Amino acid sequence: MTRILILQGPNLNRLGTREPAQYGRKTLGEIHEEILRMGQEEGFSPVFFQSNHEGALIDRIHQAADEGIAGIVANLGAYTHTSIAIRDAILSVNLPVVEVHLSNVYRREPFRTKSLISDIAAGVIGGLGPVVYRLGILGLLAFLEQKKQDPTAH
Ligand code: DQA
Repeated sequence: MTRILILQGPNLNRLGTREPAQYGRKTLGEIHEEILRMGQEEGFSPVFFQSNHEGALIDRIHQAADEGIAGIVANLGAYTHTSIAIRDAILSVNLPVVEVHLSNVYRREPFRTKSLISDIAAGVIGGLGPVVYRLGILGLLAFLEQKKQDPTAH
């Protein structure tokens, strides 16, 4: 079965109580339960990883490539805007990444409009709340299917 890494960056472990006006009231656990249910319906197997540490996220990206993960749906939190090292980690593995954000970063502080990931991502989804994970996964699955038919697709 297709395995998808759901990669969650810094402070996302605080969802539920963290800035609810911005991020809603669902906890990360609740979001992951929904993804698990979706996996049973859509026939994929999610692997979850959250860390507040840049290096741990990088290690998990490398490991994903080595263990046959098909692709990554990543909310890298604030590291989206700052981490050349995470960008390089994504470039070091041959895995499609869909970048997601719960909030609409374009409606917020200007520094959030810069992403070091978007231009190397298969797709970017943001601003709709927790449904971005569902949309991101569907997009990634469609991308993987397309790639099977045309390996040059990107
Ligand atoms: C976020 C947006 C980032 O700018 C912020 O640092 C986060 C969460 C989002 O999901 O909207 O931690 O990635």
